[in-house]
Amino acid sequence: MSEVLQSVSEEIAQFSIQSKEDLENFRLAFLAKKGKLTALFDEIKNIPPAEKKAYGADVNALKNQAQTKFDTFQEQLTSLEESTLLDELDLTLPNIPHTLGTKHPLSVTRERITKIFERIGFNISEGPEIEDDFHNFTALNFPENHPAREMQDTFFIEKNPDIALRTHTSSVQVRIMESQKPPIRTLSPGRVYRNEAISARAHCMFHQVEGLYIDKNVSFADLKQTLYYFVKELFGKDTKLRFRPSFFPFTEPSAEIDISCHICGGKGCNVCKHSGWVEIGGAGMVDPNVLENCGIDPKTYSGFAFGMGIERITMLKYQINDLRLFTENDIRFLRQFKHVM
Ligand code: DAH
Repeated sequence: MSEVLQSVSEEIAQFSIQSKEDLENFRLAFLAKKGKLTALFDEIKNIPPAEKKAYGADVNALKNQAQTKFDTFQEQLTSLEESTLLDELDLTLPNIPHTLGTKHPLSVTRERITKIFERIGFNISEGPEIEDDFHNFTALNFPENHPAREMQDTFFIEKNPDIALRTHTSSVQVRIMESQKPPIRTLSPGRVYRNEAISARAHCMFHQVEGLYIDKNVSFADLKQTLYYFVKELFGKDTKLRFRPSFFPFTEPSAEIDISCHICGGKGCNVCKHSGWVEIGGAGMVDPNVLENCGIDPKTYSGFAFGMGIERITMLKYQINDLRLFTENDIRFLRQFKHVM
């Protein structure tokens, strides 16, 4: 190694590095573009050909020497910095508590209901909350100007009486039947709206779940058995089911679905108003007119439908006595469902 190179090597070895600044100065002096090593590499063009190889190897060795020193000190300084930082941290300080959110009771109920029906082959479907008259009423066999339309107080969109906030999830039935071929087995949960004053028992916005089953030879017995399975799964195996004759324009025959009061086991209490039974929804065989309105041949196919209120079921299941609690977001109410999955 030439004397010049030898002295650079000594310079590298003796350069004192105590701080990050020193390290940076070292880099600038030797390794940077304008540093000494670059200049030595450039010098190669002035070296006689016979010595070029040895010279190149020597300068490379210097470069390695400088780089190794740089890397070693960089590592040392960083770990030193981290350990000083750790010294300043007080690991015995108590943690800042943070509370986890909980699932809303209506979400819990909706998920439970959908899981039960999924197990027996229903899929989940959704439809729009802003609906036209056809899907919300006409296709469902509500004749125009018929008083049956007044069963449900509707929010119409101003300026267009044809468009409204859907009053029930039965509108999704229509959309599914229009777009799919039987067999159809579907469950449609969602929000619905009615023009009602808000009280403990009524709200202008609530949730329903609609069920629909269309195939060849579907009977009322299938409807009853399906709902029987459902209420036993949701409310417990001792739950009884009862159908009361009723009227809906879109089903014939129609029924109201009651279950035995699971609070008192049917003996009579405040929740069931001492009757032993509580209502959870409506159901029936899809009216042939509705099938026809949706492009399904009523001579080949039949089906059943049912609709239930998610709030209503949640209130019965957890003995909640005021609908407004669901939308007030009082954390003391919501926290009570922490352990309900
Ligand atoms: N749509 C009805 C309501 O909101 C509930 C209902 C009753 C749905 C009977 C149905 C049914 O599918 O068959 O009051």
